[in-house]
Amino acid sequence: MNPVQKLFSCFSDSNTLKFPKNFLWGTATAAFQIEGHPDEYAQKLSDWAQWLDKPEKVLPSNGNGDAVKHIEHLEEDLALIHDLGAGAYRFSFNWATIHRGQDEFHEETLLFYKNLIEGLKAKEDSSKKPIRIFATLIHFVLPSWLADQGGWQNPNTACEFNNYTNVLLDLFGEDIEDWITINEPNIFLGFGYESGIWPPGKTKDWTGYLRAYQGLLTGHELAYKSIKAFNPNYRVGFSQNMYFFQSLQEAVVEALNQDKSSDQASDNQSSSAVEAGASDSEKPGESQEKLVRRSDLDKIPTVIRNQLHNWSFIESCLEIDCLDFLGVNYYTRFIYKFSTIARDPANPDLLSDLWGNLEKAPADYVDAFTKTKPKYNSLGWEIFPEGLYRVLASHKFKQLIGDLPVYITENGYSHIEKEDKLDLEDDYRVDFIKSHLQALHKCMNEGLNLQGYFYWSLIDNFEWALGMDPRFGLIHVDQKTYKRTPKKSYYYYSELIKQNAVKLG
Ligand code: BGC
Repeated sequence: MNPVQKLFSCFSDSNTLKFPKNFLWGTATAAFQIEGHPDEYAQKLSDWAQWLDKPEKVLPSNGNGDAVKHIEHLEEDLALIHDLGAGAYRFSFNWATIHRGQDEFHEETLLFYKNLIEGLKAKEDSSKKPIRIFATLIHFVLPSWLADQGGWQNPNTACEFNNYTNVLLDLFGEDIEDWITINEPNIFLGFGYESGIWPPGKTKDWTGYLRAYQGLLTGHELAYKSIKAFNPNYRVGFSQNMYFFQSLQEAVVEALNQDKSSDQASDNQSSSAVEAGASDSEKPGESQEKLVRRSDLDKIPTVIRNQLHNWSFIESCLEIDCLDFLGVNYYTRFIYKFSTIARDPANPDLLSDLWGNLEKAPADYVDAFTKTKPKYNSLGWEIFPEGLYRVLASHKFKQLIGDLPVYITENGYSHIEKEDKLDLEDDYRVDFIKSHLQALHKCMNEGLNLQGYFYWSLIDNFEWALGMDPRFGLIHVDQKTYKRTPKKSYYYYSELIKQNAVKLG
């Protein structure tokens, strides 16, 4: 019995969370983050390939477009996907390498996807089970010929997106029944038009933001309709990045009210939540009543961010009646404090005034599922499964989504490794998966129509502006030799899938 099997050896006890029989387990990836298409960087086919040439934009300067050479390693990666035993796999088509100009679709690239799809469906190999595909049409990256004409701000981009969708349907429509039109329109807009850290690199360009929002929505609508025209039974949704937003004062009050008697939470009681979480204007020991009253102001940034980031695009898709399921990508909680100081005093605007300041979680706050005080991944993101529960169990989510099927299309843990310590014995990732599934299990018990979970990511990959250092994968990649090595979490997840259950403790 290997150590992972041991973890599952006493399944019948009450510490086991069973998942429904048809629950779909999967992993997710995105084209630009893994493929390493030989032409993309060399010919600057995409906005991201252009972006990589601005060394100040990608840290460390480790973006040469090779990613993890998935195209070269296709057979090996397919074998690892099959061996994992998950019933589903989410990948994205690379719009930029496929659609190289108006009416110009690149045959060789399409052939790669044909091989990928046939491999997943195990068409040539009856010893393997076919894998259900969730195909994303765009995962951030735009063809540069469209980006150069204004990207999503230009209404033509949505039309070209629809042309591209129809080409994919003609070629692969028979094999793919689940489609994710757009990955995280909110992240694309926030990083591209508000903070400017991603292409097209605009800062606080709210007009551009709104135009691009409209373009993305039209693109989604056209693609949705094309897929439904191809086959009305196919399922079409989009993936929304969702944070649990909380006001600082609410977090502080909750930390104060928590029962700290259990587990690790009990040590160091003297550092109160108020001391740890509140800034200079609040005094330690300030009455709870006063704290609650003050929380109203901190709620302003939280409410605005919740609306803009979490809810708006979902509402828009529901208004136009173009959503068969929602994909939720969840990573962390963000805590805000009201601030009247615009982030850029030289260029103040109303929204920035209301945007708030990002704060750390109160040091005493105990997560309901991990039972520990705040912990962070290598990107500084708090590990907070309780936030996943609270987003999905919120009144607003229930009101919007009702009984619509939901999939977790991304959820993952990032680690930065030191040369002498490879990210292979990744117990932190095992714990991350376990605690988030615990949160999801609770949501399902309370009625959420959750149909599946896709861990992000199958394999270490290119983490956008942060380069190659953050590793999210179940499979390790050596960045010099591109050797693949499954991590402990890969075997853990594989066993979990077999058992269709999570063993706690
Ligand atoms: C994106 C992924 C990214 C992950 C981790 C998500 O927002 O869809 O492409 O790698 O977060 O940052």
